[in-house]
Amino acid sequence: MNQASLYQHANQVQRHDAKLILDEFASTLQWRSDGEDALLDVGSGSGNVLMDFVRPLLPIRGQLVGTDISSQMVGYASKHYQGEERTRFQVLDIGCERLPEELSGRFDHVTSFYCLHWVQNLKGALANIYNLLKPEGGDVLLAFLASNPVYEVYKILKTNEKWSSYMQDVEQFISPLHHSSEPGEEFSQLLADVGFIQHNVEIRNEVFVYEGVRTVKDNVKAICPFLERMPADLHEEFLDDFIDVVISMNLQQGERNEEQKFLSPYKLVVAYARKTPEFVNNIFLEPTHQDLVKGIK
Ligand SMILES: C[S@@+](CC[C@H](N)C(=O)[O-])C[C@H]1O[C@@H](n2cnc3c(N)ncnc32)[C@H](O)[C@@H]1O
Repeated sequence: MNQASLYQHANQVQRHDAKLILDEFASTLQWRSDGEDALLDVGSGSGNVLMDFVRPLLPIRGQLVGTDISSQMVGYASKHYQGEERTRFQVLDIGCERLPEELSGRFDHVTSFYCLHWVQNLKGALANIYNLLKPEGGDVLLAFLASNPVYEVYKILKTNEKWSSYMQDVEQFISPLHHSSEPGEEFSQLLADVGFIQHNVEIRNEVFVYEGVRTVKDNVKAICPFLERMPADLHEEFLDDFIDVVISMNLQQGERNEEQKFLSPYKLVVAYARKTPEFVNNIFLEPTHQDLVKGIK
């Protein structure tokens, strides 16, 4: 997904979910007593979820690093938020073999919203997330798709000879938990395998309602990895076929006009994990997070 500006304007679902989850976990995250928290976000995209919902939670002296595999996304976010203090964006593939030296073991918190379903080597990504945390401890808040009807739409479109040549590697773009019968258990096991001592994983069944064909098409344009492989003059035809498949799956309500609604029932993994219990025990003795955010010590 390389269309930062499109994404910035078509990520209502992601914004909605991230805001709810951050409101819920703001006081669970283990903020430092000195207000010098360092937080890294994985897959920040155009940066607006990070800056609108995560940044306000950080204490005034906190450091924020937004990362993304896409240099285009990182370029867009760096430019858009260049005036922000103690904030930078850099390229990072969370599935990489070896973390860059300057990031390894440097963070108190790692967050990630709507990214990990893109990473097929989920265990490798979680091991990297664990190693981004400081050796003495830290915590992580992760939310990503276990399943979504869009994956079934992709699989059906791949069988259409018009689109199959652009979609040969469709499985690479399907959440590694999409076919799992127990995604929560599977993800909990991965967290334990890479070393997280305490973790809580929930699978949330959600439904998002898209108002009108244009809204669905704009969202698909912002996230569909196959569009950028095909000539621009085929995009509208692909999007029309996408809508036809959605309708054949009975995910629409109403007639085919601007009033039509589209339902997207999806499963979201929401996970919170801590690296060490000692870290937690120390923090329980410290001032509250709200005091730190306001700069009161
Ligand atoms: C749907 S966007 C989410 C952006 C933002 N977190 C939000 O909630 O709006 C997913 C982002 O994950 C990035 N991404 C995909 N694979 C990645 C990887 N292996 N490492 C880091 N980022 C990745 C994509 O480039 C994209 O910007």
